[in-house]
Amino acid sequence: MQSIGNQRDRQAVVWTRQSGKPVKMGRLYLTESDCRFTYELDYLSLQQPGLGLLYAPEIVQESTIIRPRTEFFDFLPPIQSLVPPKGEHNFQRKLVLAYLAKKGIQPNNGLEADWEILKIAGHGAIGHLDVFENDDKALQWYATPPAAELFQVTEDLGFSLKETLSWLDQDASELINIIGPTPSVGGAIPKILLSIPDTGWDNRIGLPSRGPAPQMTDVVVKFEQNTAYPGINELEALALDIHKEAGFEVPNYWLSDMRGIPVLAVERFDRNTANTPVFTETLYSILATGDADITHHYSYSYDAIGTAIDKSPMDIISQRKQGKIQLMKRLVLSLLTGNGDLHLENLSVKLNQGEAEFTPVYDPTPMRAYAIHNMISVMPFGDYGEMINNRDEPVGLTESIQNLAKHLGLTPSEATEVIHFSLQVTESFTERVSNLKTLPELNKNNLIDIVNKVRARIKQSI
Ligand SMILES: Nc1ncnc2c1ncn2[C@@H]1O[C@H](COP(=O)(O)OP(=O)(O)O)[C@@H](O)[C@H]1O
Ligand SMILES: [Mg+2]
Repeated sequence: MQSIGNQRDRQAVVWTRQSGKPVKMGRLYLTESDCRFTYELDYLSLQQPGLGLLYAPEIVQESTIIRPRTEFFDFLPPIQSLVPPKGEHNFQRKLVLAYLAKKGIQPNNGLEADWEILKIAGHGAIGHLDVFENDDKALQWYATPPAAELFQVTEDLGFSLKETLSWLDQDASELINIIGPTPSVGGAIPKILLSIPDTGWDNRIGLPSRGPAPQMTDVVVKFEQNTAYPGINELEALALDIHKEAGFEVPNYWLSDMRGIPVLAVERFDRNTANTPVFTETLYSILATGDADITHHYSYSYDAIGTAIDKSPMDIISQRKQGKIQLMKRLVLSLLTGNGDLHLENLSVKLNQGEAEFTPVYDPTPMRAYAIHNMISVMPFGDYGEMINNRDEPVGLTESIQNLAKHLGLTPSEATEVIHFSLQVTESFTERVSNLKTLPELNKNNLIDIVNKVRARIKQSI
């Protein structure tokens, strides 16, 4: 029987520059029911990392990946990561839509908009994948990198970033005039990708590099929303420091302001020192690839991440035991710094000479300083708060941390060491919070209070 759909299949191509040289990775199709991807035969012979960890070329080979579309994933998860989340106030989405509107493209909300956005925001963004409408567009884009040029951030840039950021009734066209069709970054806080001198932030900015740029460092720049999250940049910087002191790899960062708006510029770990893209993928993308039940960036548990690290036939983290200890440490440090927001999009994996490992720390912000984010953890761990086995009390913090350690395969002494060490590293955290300059008193006091209580409870577990 013949059937005719009521919509044309959409096609795009995926390229990558991760070897330093642009190559076509494969073709992407979106049908009424599925998203599909096929590797190029030439790409398969290159033996480079592919679309995502679990979509490894050596596994997929010449087959076509077919994933039924759902309300949560129209695209394969690594591709979906390139589309800024839906929501009319999403800054990144607004930037791209305003750019499209200027070019006379005004897609309907929903898939049509996402598809148009993907064709613009899908290249030069975070990670190693570049999506284009077709090969000609790809070749043209790679052949015309912008000059590695820096602009002084001064009044005469002729745009009001400040107005753009209180964007509710503004459009982003002026910002776009300056920074061009901006590659986007997913997430909630307004941010853009820029480059700065490799000597550090000095108020000069340029477009993200698209090739070797010896004098430039690629950064993610986050703009502080003074009304919703006053003091957040300084708070994020403090949390980055703590993680560094705890032995984690942490990117360089610079706190500054751009025409009165506080900015936090963080060096990108998805670009190497030669500005070449590095394979990176969020745990959200990796786990959602393997498990169709994952619908949100928090719909999983830390215990289940441990199981996935252990059981996955493809390495999610190559040094499995070490990865699980790192995960445990990240969670305990989050608890002790009042960050309840360590979700699947705030954990990413990179490939380092074929080894899958956690990326440097990013977004460890103590979000509990802000009342609307005051929850102990957005993802479950160790049955915390659950009523299990007919007990009349929910599982407490001490027990749930021990449960998690057990589920992650840590010995009791390894668990104790993680907790002990994390308590030590965060010893002066509340004092450092009280010394912050831009976080309002109320937020400081709330955060300090919250953290002191968690500390007291965690101390009981050792
Ligand atoms: N330093 C970095 N290098 C490379 N990618 C980054 C870096 N920081 C953040 N990202 C990517 O950008 C996304 C959004 O950044 P994040 O700091 O989590 O912002 P938000 O506060 O909006 O969640 C992350 O999920 C991650 O994929
Ligand atoms: Mg984040």
